[in-house]
Amino acid sequence: MRGEVSVSGAKNAVLPILAATLLTDEPCLIRGVPNLRDSATMLKILRAIGKNAEFDKGVAAVSKNKHTSFIADYKLVSTMRASFCVLGPLIAKLKKAKVSLPGGCVIGIRPVDLHLKGIKALGADISIESGYVVAKTKQLKGNHMYLGGIFGSSVLATDNVMMAATLAKGKTIIESAACEPEVVDLAEFLIKMGAKIKGHGTPVIEIEGVKELHGATHTVIPDRIEAGTFMIAALITAGDITIKNVFYQHLGGVIDKLEEAGAYIIKTDHSVRVCRKTRIKPVNVTTLPYPGFPTDMQAQIMSLMSITRGISVITEKIYPDRFMHVAELNRMGARIQREGPHAIVEGIKKLSGAPVMASDLRASASLVLAGLVASDKTSIHRIYHLERGYENLEMKMQKLGARIWREKE
Ligand code: EPZ
Repeated sequence: MRGEVSVSGAKNAVLPILAATLLTDEPCLIRGVPNLRDSATMLKILRAIGKNAEFDKGVAAVSKNKHTSFIADYKLVSTMRASFCVLGPLIAKLKKAKVSLPGGCVIGIRPVDLHLKGIKALGADISIESGYVVAKTKQLKGNHMYLGGIFGSSVLATDNVMMAATLAKGKTIIESAACEPEVVDLAEFLIKMGAKIKGHGTPVIEIEGVKELHGATHTVIPDRIEAGTFMIAALITAGDITIKNVFYQHLGGVIDKLEEAGAYIIKTDHSVRVCRKTRIKPVNVTTLPYPGFPTDMQAQIMSLMSITRGISVITEKIYPDRFMHVAELNRMGARIQREGPHAIVEGIKKLSGAPVMASDLRASASLVLAGLVASDKTSIHRIYHLERGYENLEMKMQKLGARIWREKE
């Protein structure tokens, strides 16, 4: 694959940013919103809660509607876990919230105990009733809390509590906060709305509560995981791709690992060019919270390692069961053995095309990458998973020379 491709706005930044518009009655304008299933779901939730939420050519315009509800129902929340991050804004703005618990996920056990711990620490009464979190408060009060879990910091728990704390009385300090660029982007948007936040991007975030927040306009950061996926596409196809609209600073852990594997990467302010000068080498990878190697790139680098001569060990420290793609890659002839949170990958010369099943967003991306270099045809089923997080993926890949197309099931 050769040529240039431009990355869309970050899914994992836009979802909490859209939820944050619930913190004000004034209009907000969000630019760089990717046209994804998940963006559409969050806009649906905002409408159900009582917002006018229009989307057109990457711009979401959100404003107050006449009726307001404090309920995020199971039907919508069960389709997208990230919708749970309306809890913080609702309890802060409306002093009550009823939000469905997210339910199961194929990538592993994903509790929300840290979210509830943080919101409780701000003084909300919380109960679980018929699968819903019911939260009430007369007034949230700032507090000092530790939000680290057994797998380290939590991105959406940090987002939820940070949003709630913006309208709490007094100061809140969140220790072991997530440092992901998407958390920083949310904080930047909240600050534009009038919030007082310091330390975002570090493990200690300080929020001084204010009486109210106003409307704001914001452009979402580029999607570093989409960018990382195209970096692997360049390496796995022995191509040369320039990925535009990227902040390479957000990809430190990925760039470091790919350079260790033999990638040749040229970074400029808003683009990265990726190709390979030598044969790709096997590398061991361990997923970690940001700035470590992202779990959302684990499946994609496994595809690359599956055709890289030698042994590589991939260790999943965030979601120890996030290996649904292993069986599908092995269906294509890969030699991957799973040992608890580790996958031992013995690289082979060539994968063979096969019908495979997508199980989640990043697993489906790894199957697309494997299909690009497998002999014959690979048909990937359940691609609705892909549409949740990649905007126009096949069109972007076709422009780079990939033979990828959509067929009716
Ligand atoms: C965000 O999910 C991303 N989603 C995920 O991306 C990403 O994999 C994850 O962060 C980790 O980077 C969005 O931003 C919408 P976590 P989140 O809370 O916030 C445990 C993708 O492919 N935990 O940081 O839900 C949890 O089980 C998606 O785009 C608790 O124990 O993840 C996990 O092991 C998939 N208790 C670890 O923390 C809690 O209350 C990190 O999860 C919350 C989390």
